[in-house]
Amino acid sequence: EEDQTPRPPQDCSDFISTLPKGGWGPIRTRKYQGFWVPEIFLPSVMAIQKNFKARPDDLFVVSYPKSGTTWLKALTFATMTRTQYPLAHHPLLSFNPHDCVLYVEQYFHEGLISKMEALPSPRILAIHMPYSLLPDSMTSSSCRFVYICRDPKDTLVSMWHFREKSRPKTVEPTPFAEAFEAFCEGTSPVGPMWDHALEYWRASLRSPERVLFLKYEEMMDEPVGNARRLAEFLSCPFTEEEEKGGVVEDIVELCSFEKLKSLEANKMGTQGGPGFVVTNDSFFRKGGGGDWKNHMSPEMARRLDAITQHKLFESGLTL
Ligand code: A3P
Repeated sequence: EEDQTPRPPQDCSDFISTLPKGGWGPIRTRKYQGFWVPEIFLPSVMAIQKNFKARPDDLFVVSYPKSGTTWLKALTFATMTRTQYPLAHHPLLSFNPHDCVLYVEQYFHEGLISKMEALPSPRILAIHMPYSLLPDSMTSSSCRFVYICRDPKDTLVSMWHFREKSRPKTVEPTPFAEAFEAFCEGTSPVGPMWDHALEYWRASLRSPERVLFLKYEEMMDEPVGNARRLAEFLSCPFTEEEEKGGVVEDIVELCSFEKLKSLEANKMGTQGGPGFVVTNDSFFRKGGGGDWKNHMSPEMARRLDAITQHKLFESGLTL
């Protein structure tokens, strides 16, 4: 249905205070143009809508948070820059993937726009914004998107842990059940998750050459095949020589959960800026699928699965 949210006037803090509130614990979200955007990022989201100019050769790594973004950032970055950086001395060995590929929201939030403008083309950027909120310069240009999606149950569990870990000591813990309710209602960050995924799913059906839709579980099952698919989409397919030399396997290995988690750069340091700081190690919690079984009762899982089935009905997308 058509969202009736008015366009923001000049003074966005007054405007933001009029929007419906959601989220859980320390994560406050506001309903903006049909999605629940984290309050602290709303001014940046509005500024992106107004001012961000995509370049035709920009590449965006996109996700609903906690769907495997860190992994996809690493794979995309390693694949696109493989002739520039030999894998033995790769920046991913010394920097967290989020230091190699920054969010557009972050460039705006942290006042780093000139840094983003100075990046050489093709830029590799990341974004969590829903497709329908993106500015025209992104949706009607030839820039490309790689999207990663994950089982909603594991995504929620991952998000709850992540947020609990970064919770300031002064803030009360959030019981999992409370996060579960917010997630089901769709008020978790950039929720509803299903709508987020469906918008990119439909965009990938309309324009498969512009939007590649990947699933976390399929990538876990077949990392090498999916790395090849990614490279082809990015217009830098692996050559016969690279295939023979095991480059695909090497990239997959470099970007694997175990490898990244073991690196000093990911054991220390932080990400984020004003209002939201997380440690690098929180991006490598457990990995894989099925941890939801340790957090949800069978009834909760059935309820979440039923929402997923209902939301994705006849879309062709299964999660
Ligand atoms: P868990 O919390 O279930 O362990 P995001 O990167 O979007 O923030 O998502 C984080 C989730 O992806 C975490 O899930 C994390 O462990 C997992 N993850 C991070 N790096 C990964 C990798 N290289 N391979 C597979 N999963 C990874």
